[in-house]
Amino acid sequence: MAKITNIEDLKQIYKRRVPKMFYDYCESGSWTEQTFRENSSDFDQVRLRQRVAVDMTGRSTATKMIGQDVSMPVALAPVGSTGMQHADGEILAAKAAEAFGVPFTLSTMSVCSIEDVAENTTKPFWFQLYAMKDKDYTKRVIQRAKDAKCSALVVTLDLQILGQRHKDLKNGLSIPIRPTMGNIVDLATKWRWIAGMAKTKRHQFGNIVGHIDGISDMSSLAIWASESFDPKLNWEDVKEIKKMWGGPLILKGILDADDAKMALQVGADAIIVSNHGGRQLDGALSSIRVLPSIMDAVGDKIEVHLDSGIRSGQDVLKAISMGAKGTYIGRAFVYGLGAMGQEGVTSALNVIHKELDTTMALCGETQVEDLGRQNLLVPEDFDGRWRQ
Ligand code: GLV
Repeated sequence: MAKITNIEDLKQIYKRRVPKMFYDYCESGSWTEQTFRENSSDFDQVRLRQRVAVDMTGRSTATKMIGQDVSMPVALAPVGSTGMQHADGEILAAKAAEAFGVPFTLSTMSVCSIEDVAENTTKPFWFQLYAMKDKDYTKRVIQRAKDAKCSALVVTLDLQILGQRHKDLKNGLSIPIRPTMGNIVDLATKWRWIAGMAKTKRHQFGNIVGHIDGISDMSSLAIWASESFDPKLNWEDVKEIKKMWGGPLILKGILDADDAKMALQVGADAIIVSNHGGRQLDGALSSIRVLPSIMDAVGDKIEVHLDSGIRSGQDVLKAISMGAKGTYIGRAFVYGLGAMGQEGVTSALNVIHKELDTTMALCGETQVEDLGRQNLLVPEDFDGRWRQ
């Protein structure tokens, strides 16, 4: 196999090996995909300041996210249905993250359950929560995350209703896959994926099926989400969740300074500046473009993280230099997972780590904590002069 030198290499292998339906699920934004595209292209607008003749020995990418040691400021983002990208996907990704020394975040909508992942790992992972209409389920799933010794709760605030992704509707995205003619033709070339799936029993949403009365078939995520996610979720509920959980709380999906201030008020430990990878409100600004305004509003009072659009160590460096204390990769690790399982996730982490390390050196920095605006060249109107 050709040598993997960047995330795009993994994506190409991933595309060949995973059923089209799940590739499309990963590689989609909502509606026109403008925000999905701009999450990446806006990173390209920010440039790096090259410095020379600086002692670059003794470099380290190690730092902390919410007080926890990380070997680089890059966590694995919660990604729904990861266990459909590769058999036992969440377990494999969690193992790769653990070995690398970065946090793994398990989605509520995962295939491997909280207990499955806990049994197969040795260090605490983070759990992402979708608040459900069924408040009792929310309470129980929080307790399950506590019992599994999860070390942070990541509450997603930007998906009370699912943004429309055309490809998922056209593909009839379902879990498990329905045996339509198109799917059979596609699967005929995906023998590696089939062989993996044949060896595992984990084919359903493990945190849900068997844990909510009356749910046995939830093959359409879209329908299930619209029926089950709590559309009334508000800041009072977030306070309630914080109380129930009692541990480190991260609020995901903040894209506006006013919401960042609310997150601060409810006592979150960190926020994730995120537009859900461009999968929700198409037309919203990219995460990196809103980061400066959020840093101005709350940056000195709460830990700010960022996801959406990170595909390289240079992107990580840009987000950190703008003030984020941590970043998350979603698609970038899924490409690796779909391409080569656990080894592929490790490969994605290695690629990003090497890029981050070398880029730090060429910017004249040796420690993550020292990165700052001095390392960047940001277009004057980058934050934009948007009118309300
Ligand atoms: C779920 O989180 C999704 O974006 O599909």
